[in-house]
Amino acid sequence: MRVKVLEDQSSFVNYAASRIAQIAIATLEVNPTFSLVLTGGSTPGPIYERLAHPNFANAIDWQRVHIFFGDERCVPPDHPDSNFGMAHDTLLQHVPIPDEQIHRLKGELNPQNAASEYESVVRAFLEQNPPGFDLTLLGMGDDGHAASLFPGTNAINEKERWVVAHHVKKLDAWRLTMSPPLLNRSENIMFVVSGSSKAAALHQVIEGDFQPMRYPAQIIRPDNQMLTWVVDSAAAEELTIETE
Ligand code: 6PG
Repeated sequence: MRVKVLEDQSSFVNYAASRIAQIAIATLEVNPTFSLVLTGGSTPGPIYERLAHPNFANAIDWQRVHIFFGDERCVPPDHPDSNFGMAHDTLLQHVPIPDEQIHRLKGELNPQNAASEYESVVRAFLEQNPPGFDLTLLGMGDDGHAASLFPGTNAINEKERWVVAHHVKKLDAWRLTMSPPLLNRSENIMFVVSGSSKAAALHQVIEGDFQPMRYPAQIIRPDNQMLTWVVDSAAAEELTIETE
């Protein structure tokens, strides 16, 4: 695990975008495709915008990129809360990815149907492109949630299903989320976390006892693959471990 701390918002955004681009370029040198799982929330928007800038975007062969989503809100794609909508507006509409390679979670469907349909889509893709995604991006909430794995929810312990639809009590809303076995099935996992409201949870997730029901982001533990935390100095203020 690496923890990279950036001084301010601009260097945080720039670093995250350049790491995504580097991993994409390096993967496409050796693989026919690059699969990227996007995260939602407010943190990634500026990172996606930076990635869409010609300085980064021109270096990536988008025709070979496949996009997935780690979680989704149960709203239509053009709703302001849609993770797909945010990614579309900030990144996807600006780069030449073939539409059929953008695999979104369908928040407008019945949640259980949307989850099982997405699981089939992912299984078919990974059968052709084993063993897992090339890069999974994740954010973290100030309660330590990642994707839509919220504290105290059964989805954190899911072992069989790859995509889960569940009602999250604290939000009083349905969410669609990849489960831990799928989120961990990725060559690279990169958390992007910024702001002082995340500092206490980040400290617990990285340095505290293993309690994933309380701090779900702890369940993200790939076996041999690379896990990187890209954080700004405000989010890192309670960390005591050695960071880069
Ligand atoms: C979502 C997410 C979620 C998000 C965190 C952090 O759909 O909301 O994918 O896991 O990454 O809530 O969100 P912020 O970046 O807004 O703090």
